[in-house]
Amino acid sequence: MAKPCKNSLAFPDDAFAARVLRWYDLHGRHDLPWQVSCAYRRWVSEIMLQQTTVAAVIPYFMRFMERFPTIDALSEAPVADVMAHWAGLGYYARARNLHAAARVVVRTLQGVWPQTVEGLSALPGIGRSTAGAIAVFAFAARAPILDANVRRILRRYHDEQGTGAAHTRRLWALAADHLPAQRVADYTQAIMDLGALVCRKTPDCPRCPLASDCAFTGAEPAVARTARRERSVAMLLAQRADGCVFLVRRPTRGVWGGLWSLPECPLADDAAFCLRQHGLEARACVLLAPFTHTLTHCTLHIQPIHAQGVVTTSPQPGGDDMMWYPLDQPAPGVPAPVGRLLTRLREIP
Ligand code: ADE
Repeated sequence: MAKPCKNSLAFPDDAFAARVLRWYDLHGRHDLPWQVSCAYRRWVSEIMLQQTTVAAVIPYFMRFMERFPTIDALSEAPVADVMAHWAGLGYYARARNLHAAARVVVRTLQGVWPQTVEGLSALPGIGRSTAGAIAVFAFAARAPILDANVRRILRRYHDEQGTGAAHTRRLWALAADHLPAQRVADYTQAIMDLGALVCRKTPDCPRCPLASDCAFTGAEPAVARTARRERSVAMLLAQRADGCVFLVRRPTRGVWGGLWSLPECPLADDAAFCLRQHGLEARACVLLAPFTHTLTHCTLHIQPIHAQGVVTTSPQPGGDDMMWYPLDQPAPGVPAPVGRLLTRLREIP
């Protein structure tokens, strides 16, 4: 039989929520740019905040709202435009799903938002916790959330050890039990803030409103740290005499999925071979200064190669997965290091 966890709940626990709310009133975040009663802003912000910090999201959110102020504007925009406004934020499937969901709401649901967790979860890119947050913040629903921060708080407070589906089910049940009778939206923001600001990976227990009866002893099963992979790649800045640069669209999966990028080859020596595979040939190839770009799971050592005077030697397949990008135009959605390289190229006289 499963070991009963500490701080088990037999009934809804307003004391837990009351302490979290009191802490929130004094120390929580109350003036984030999406803390308004607008379903569209709430939805966009919750998608941006998946796996991304508030500080990183704010400037993206502001620019996104300026360009796509309403769900109609978002649904009418070309997906490439949406991707361009997401470039640098990572996990690009979120942007594609956001755009797809906007079209579902506008075109299929005639602009009427689903307001329940079930209805919201049926839209592309919205999981149970995100659906809960949107339902609570935008539609005053009473629903639990269980993002990474809330998980950590509940695991520690209840000494809820374990892994797998049963563990997750228990955490969801605890998250639901802790919902207060009132101020559910404030409580939801509060528990997120507590996880982000106090009950962090290295917790600041003296500042925590739950410390007096929290089961956390400081001993957590060591999470096996996966060493960050190292990868080296040569990126080709293939430039025609008219200044245009050759870009290819990346496959839809992966951290840069669907973004425009530079052709890559494993070694600088393969540059001519790689160009030929795209039906291109260069007058000269010049190595530019290498640099390192850090991703969550990988350190990328990039050797840029400037292929100059590029010409087309065999017909190119065309289609929408390659383009000649005029350097003086605004860049399409490109990964951060590619944006950096394009800037460098603009500075070459
Ligand atoms: N993470 C996910 N949603 C959030 C929100 N609304 N505020 C702060 N952090 C969050």
